[in-house]
Amino acid sequence: MSAQIDYNQLIPNNVNLASDRRLLRALESWHPKFINWWKDYGPDAYQEKEVYLRTAVSVDKKGWAHFGPVKMPDYRWGIFLADSNIEEKRIGFGDHKGEKVWTDVPGEYRGPLRRLIVTQGDTEPASVEQQRVLAATAPSLIDMRNLFQVNVEEARHLWAMVYLLMAHFGRDGREEAEQLLERRSGDPDKPRILGAFNEQTPDWLSFYMFTYFTDRDGKYQLASLAESAFDPLARTCQFMLTEEAHHMYVGETGVARIIQKACDVMNEYKTDDVRRHGAIDLPTLQKYVNFHFSVSEDLFGAELSTNAANYFTQGLKGRYQEQFIKDDHSLKDEPYEITTFANNMIKKEEVPALNSINERLRDDYIKDCQRGVNRWNKLIKDAGIDFEITLPHRAFHRQIGFFAKANVSPEGVTMTEEDWFKNSLSWLPSEQDHEYVKSLMIQVTEPGKFASWIAPPRIGINNQAIDFEYVRF
Ligand SMILES: [Fe+2]
Ligand SMILES: [Fe+2]
Repeated sequence: MSAQIDYNQLIPNNVNLASDRRLLRALESWHPKFINWWKDYGPDAYQEKEVYLRTAVSVDKKGWAHFGPVKMPDYRWGIFLADSNIEEKRIGFGDHKGEKVWTDVPGEYRGPLRRLIVTQGDTEPASVEQQRVLAATAPSLIDMRNLFQVNVEEARHLWAMVYLLMAHFGRDGREEAEQLLERRSGDPDKPRILGAFNEQTPDWLSFYMFTYFTDRDGKYQLASLAESAFDPLARTCQFMLTEEAHHMYVGETGVARIIQKACDVMNEYKTDDVRRHGAIDLPTLQKYVNFHFSVSEDLFGAELSTNAANYFTQGLKGRYQEQFIKDDHSLKDEPYEITTFANNMIKKEEVPALNSINERLRDDYIKDCQRGVNRWNKLIKDAGIDFEITLPHRAFHRQIGFFAKANVSPEGVTMTEEDWFKNSLSWLPSEQDHEYVKSLMIQVTEPGKFASWIAPPRIGINNQAIDFEYVRF
């Protein structure tokens, strides 16, 4: 079967696939396995429906994507590297700062580079698996389409990482590519690599929180890898960021529309009890924020990390927007202030910047998360309602780093474990909250109609109307 497919045609690319027989053969043998994975663990049902999807077709900033109806298994998962001026491009940080960027993997960095690529690659199919059953409860056609859009693009990100593994890591790379299709989100025997990617995404409130908070971790990881001295990795990640922006947009606007609906109901019925009218109350939404923010913070790793320091020194993974940071970019003697926990006290401490690369990236991430929260709060304020959504303290509900053993409230107050658990039902979604949210999850498929708990978006996709048939039934 696969021998009849012209893979150079099937896989849109700007990496000159046609001229690389060895790579083409490797992709040819991986592609049917990928399709099997997609059909078995990608979106449940709807695979034969036409979905109005965006497909990456080039890296031209003005016209990189094509929009049109496509059945998901026919989606053209392409391979794109952002443009690079390879002659002039120099390494921006670490021990190799100022040297030419690498087009091949240096032998001594094979292991760590492979680990970085596999860890990033593993998150991509994981999120598709986590979101597998959501279409059955989509609140509208446009939301269902957005889910599928995120899913096909995460799968393309898997392709992007598999391309790097196959093009640059030989047999090891081909084996890793197979394993990326064999681990499963939430499977105790062969789990995905990172904790948050083994959690369920059981409902659409969780989906929007995930795309706002957890995809944003992806943005910061990709941005750090986009600084890499290994130029193919840098350019691949650079281009992935273009798609990632849309995922976070889906999350931010999704949450915004839930907030809007809650506010509209509060004003219309002059009540705080919006559950009676099938909306999601703001205190419940706050609990979901507390959960998803804290779980996503853990993805950045421990505050102090020699691994992260080594990646930096070796030039494999930089910091967020490295070129805008005003220091020597080698961090031999630079301090950085972090928040630590000792003797049941949270305090600030100055540590070597080189060891606190993870924490610095988490700081950038938290600032970015806050910006969207501010926009959500403006909606609430504009509706004349007295409520403010806040990000919990960074020490709240953490599993990794200094705060893993700490019992800290969302306001940043330390307490006994007993007190923490007593209060946790008011901080994190309870069983009843989950049940309530679940009870709202009823599929709506009539174009232009929306479930009771979410307002329509302000605009459609790619200038189409809100009531456009984004998924053809
Ligand atoms: Fe991704
Ligand atoms: Fe994403």
